[in-house]
Amino acid sequence: MTLIHSTEQLAIWRSSILDQTIAFVPTMGALHEGHIALIKRAAEQCDIVVVSVFVNALQFGDSSDFDRYPRSIESDHELSSAAGASIVFAPTTVEMFPPNFDNYVTPSPIAEQFEGASRPGHFAGVVTVVNRLFDLVQPHTAIFGAKDYQQVAVIRDMARALHPSLRILCSETIRDSDGLALSSRNSRLSPLARAKAVVIPNALFALRSAFNAGQLDCATLVQVARNILDTEQELAVEYLVVVDSQTLKCHVDVVAKDSIVLFAGIIDGVRLIDNIELKLFA
Ligand code: PAF
Repeated sequence: MTLIHSTEQLAIWRSSILDQTIAFVPTMGALHEGHIALIKRAAEQCDIVVVSVFVNALQFGDSSDFDRYPRSIESDHELSSAAGASIVFAPTTVEMFPPNFDNYVTPSPIAEQFEGASRPGHFAGVVTVVNRLFDLVQPHTAIFGAKDYQQVAVIRDMARALHPSLRILCSETIRDSDGLALSSRNSRLSPLARAKAVVIPNALFALRSAFNAGQLDCATLVQVARNILDTEQELAVEYLVVVDSQTLKCHVDVVAKDSIVLFAGIIDGVRLIDNIELKLFA
């Protein structure tokens, strides 16, 4: 495995790749089993896997959140290599955004609600860094995790406009044995809060069970989940919505198309997101 820190080194490496295909897994490090699954899937798709590790200040509204973001660069390299990556690109901020950098990207309207509304500027930061990484790595395929469902939708829109030949894949959310979606942020939960956070997947799974049993009324489905979330007083729900899985528009009344339930909430000062798919014809 080769570790590359500079954009110049990366360009030299990239120009040496002629016939092989490249799959790319962008990350902010603190790799967990969710990332490992993305890297393994990438290795199945292409000849070479590139993983980037860059904690992108542009996508954090709150600088203390950026400062507290977990960093574990050495284990990130080891885990990437063991999962099948050939290149880890871990640039400095100046390499990514030199003083003359001005290629800021505006996200599509799908970025405006939910995460975009809760975290102003977040998706502009995400699409700006991901576009820059795509320009540098020039992959054939890029893979993202479904836990950040809205992020994948926003990146797909950006790639459609700016990298039309790039294939964007979305890989299923990896969960702990009790159902909690893996996230680098979970490491910031106290053991007590970690135990309490299991109400999130429990609520989403209960909602999906009600849907699979034939309940299509959105308000009723949301109430099924709320009844479980409300048992945990430490959890502050930010949003819980049933939306069209393509447009992310809220259903007015009943679930009439394949949909996704999006959740965000704060427990123990840690903001967690999750989602679950509702497939009409599974
Ligand atoms: O999902 C993430 O880890 C980040 O948002 C990404 C896509 C690596 C961009 O910084």
